[in-house]
Amino acid sequence: MSEFSAEIPEVPEVPEYPFRNPTALEPPPEWAELREGCPVAPIRLASGDTALLLTRYQDVKEILSDPRFTRRLDAEGAARVTANESGGVFGGAGDGGGDGGTAMTADTHRAWRQLVGRAFTAKRVTGMRPGIQAMTERLVESMIAQGEPADLVDAVGFPLPVWVICDLLGVPDSDRESFAYWSDTMLSLTRFSQEEIDAAQGEFDAYLLAHVTAKRAEPGEDLLSELASLVEGLDGRLTEQLLIMTAKGLLVAGHETTANMIGKMVSMLLADRSRWEALLADRALVRPAVEEVLRFDANPGFGMPRYLTEEVEVAHRTLPAGTTVVCSMASANRDERQFEGAGEMRLNRSPNPHVAFGAGPHSCLGQALARTELQVVLDVLLERLPTLELAVPVPELRRREGLVVGGLEQVPVRW
Ligand code: HEM
Repeated sequence: MSEFSAEIPEVPEVPEYPFRNPTALEPPPEWAELREGCPVAPIRLASGDTALLLTRYQDVKEILSDPRFTRRLDAEGAARVTANESGGVFGGAGDGGGDGGTAMTADTHRAWRQLVGRAFTAKRVTGMRPGIQAMTERLVESMIAQGEPADLVDAVGFPLPVWVICDLLGVPDSDRESFAYWSDTMLSLTRFSQEEIDAAQGEFDAYLLAHVTAKRAEPGEDLLSELASLVEGLDGRLTEQLLIMTAKGLLVAGHETTANMIGKMVSMLLADRSRWEALLADRALVRPAVEEVLRFDANPGFGMPRYLTEEVEVAHRTLPAGTTVVCSMASANRDERQFEGAGEMRLNRSPNPHVAFGAGPHSCLGQALARTELQVVLDVLLERLPTLELAVPVPELRRREGLVVGGLEQVPVRW
């Protein structure tokens, strides 16, 4: 139980978090209620611990941007997200880019982020665009070949981001399937047995070690080779550890998030066909539309927890050191104080300073890549399948019941 919880009355009204969405594409009504009436709201997590939920744009942005506050949910007294883990995925992620196991100190994280940021440049991402386009076309062609209706999540959403990460890491096409299997197994804790998960972990570690060794012996154009050259001075073991941790971190942070967003993006745009028609009529809308679906996502998952190591004032309330807050970026993204007509999807919204990728020193390192993937998927679908539509009524879309990353089970489509 977190320390600060003693200060919050232990009344049964403390709502359970995450809240339930009325339908897969609609936000929980609590977001708007709390933004108005209680911007710093006590919530009860699945572990039974309490935390404080921030729902307004300014507050969320301020806390996420504050370099003093991190995801140190393994800290003494920090609220646990789930009952059976020390902070769930976030606990393992520490401050280290979601590496799923190697908790880093704030200093190590800063150094890691600077290093990976140097290799993860806009130039690299721009250079990946034609490859991403070709992969997307291949996946869409094979979906078409299999016939309608198809599940867009299965056909495009899940495979594409793994293929892209393989490309980024210099993993050959022939190993993509194994990579996708290991990633699925490690991420979907409920679908596989513990033995399967352990076996996948072991195989994946062995594969990465061999891959990293090969890259160091014979560098290519990929991010791992570049990282290895950036840390030439380090001893071999450290370089190996750094590269393996980074590869895993990128997979954990960049696979499920992007996969789910592809499904949510397509369903949001098809849920009201006038949106699809607008995009067909003006392809220049693709870029702002991608930003708008990121802002409008009603199903982003848990939000970002932060452990307050020092006292801080939020919305005229003093929160003591030792408090765990959860920043709801999705609620912040619908704050009328920041976005005019926040409850409407406007495909040409500009500027659109949403916080779907977080903010500040921990914001998403892969956001340029994620944006590129989403834009390319949309471009290819508009080009190849202009008649695309949902194959089920919107109320039949089902949410994926995961705690951390929100998504849809399936997005059935026809054309
Ligand atoms: C639509 C897809 C994506 C969304 C919505 C998303 C969202 C986020 C968010 C909100 C954070 C901040 C976490 C925090 O503040 O604690 C984050 C961090 C991160 N993301 Fe993404 N992400 C996406 C795709 C990707 C991709 C494709 C990659 C790379 C292949 C990636 C790599 C990372 C990394 C490495 C971090 C950790 C940064 C750090 O700890 O400094 N993400 N992401």
